[in-house]
Amino acid sequence: ATEWTDAAAVDELPEDDVLGVEAGGLDIALYSVAGEVYATSNTCTHGQARLCDGFLEGHEIECPLHQGRFDVRSGKAMCAPLTEDIRTYPVKIEGGRVYLALG
Ligand code: FES
Repeated sequence: ATEWTDAAAVDELPEDDVLGVEAGGLDIALYSVAGEVYATSNTCTHGQARLCDGFLEGHEIECPLHQGRFDVRSGKAMCAPLTEDIRTYPVKIEGGRVYLALG
């Protein structure tokens, strides 16, 4: 069975923005886009930058350091200088909480 980890309250997530949270000992970025919630690793695959310090535009998060962009739905690296996709995590909303499958 999937193990779900409580990461945040849905209310804590700003609409169409990114929030950095700690869940299960991992640094996670949560995104709220058009009423859907997505989760990725918070650490850029290119360098030591936290995506929660970047800019979310639509479904793309722009890294604050060199402006690489990932699609938060798939984790896909969309442009240079990124060469590696970012890890995404399944999200479940239940009872006003955001749960992640971190396994
Ligand atoms: Fe994110 Fe370079 S550290 S694009």
